Amino acid sequence: MNSSCLTSTEQVRAQAVHLAAAPLDEVLHWAYDAFGEKAAIGTSFQGAGLVMIHHALEAGIALPVFTLDTGVLFPETLALKERLETFWGIEIESVKPTLSLEAQEAEFGAELWRSRPDFCCQLRKVEPLRERLESLSVWITGVRQEQGETRKGAAILERYVFDPLMERTILKLNPMVAWTREQVWAYIKTHGIPYNPLHDKGYRSIGCQPCTRVSNADGAERAGRWEGFEKTECGIHTFLPVAQ
Ligand code: ADX
Ligand code: SF4
Repeated sequence: MNSSCLTSTEQVRAQAVHLAAAPLDEVLHWAYDAFGEKAAIGTSFQGAGLVMIHHALEAGIALPVFTLDTGVLFPETLALKERLETFWGIEIESVKPTLSLEAQEAEFGAELWRSRPDFCCQLRKVEPLRERLESLSVWITGVRQEQGETRKGAAILERYVFDPLMERTILKLNPMVAWTREQVWAYIKTHGIPYNPLHDKGYRSIGCQPCTRVSNADGAERAGRWEGFEKTECGIHTFLPVAQ
């Protein structure tokens, strides 16, 4: 199905059924063939993102790759970005917030992640992502159903309202949605893909340094994120309304 056929929820659902039965490289091929550079992979260099990017490159699919660099990522994550760029021979775009950390501190106080984590995520993740999505038709993510309550209803292809005034929608492609953690890590190890060394130190899910803790290996997939807060989502997967 080409891009012009995906203008209704029914058509998106039908395409999702088709994609869910297809192998990963076919899913990625479809995105690139139908949308070219208007489809892009967003990654935080965790397992699922690494598998997708590796698959795409092996299959000769030149999807752009970007990461949201909040300015408070772990040094290990920043070093991994460089290692991966060398390993794959690609450039990964860093999408940064408009406000520097210093400007944020001057305007809203020090360590905003302690006092108002939702607002901090809005400034440092959601708004920069929104800006990057302006030029995209498809946002490709590493969301997996197994990641927890908030993810278990995720479909391989979803349609969201991006700009209600312009009646613009955006597609979100989650090619890894049905992969298990074990499958992801088996693939990474088999293919020798560099990964974040923090995983070997007990970090299960890795986001910004101030909001990520080592977690019990028996815990939930995204245990260790925003410990001490009710918060389980940074907002990037919840800020867009689902298109009806
Ligand atoms: S988060 O919402 O808690 O940060 P999680 O770590 O589970 O997300 O990752 C799920 C997917 O969200 C990733 O596979 C990736 O597609 C996207 N994502 C999360 N963090 C980033 C980031 N810093 N930059 C780009 N994409 C991200
Ligand atoms: Fe701020 Fe923490 Fe959100 Fe990162 S995860 S943007 S530091 S609140």
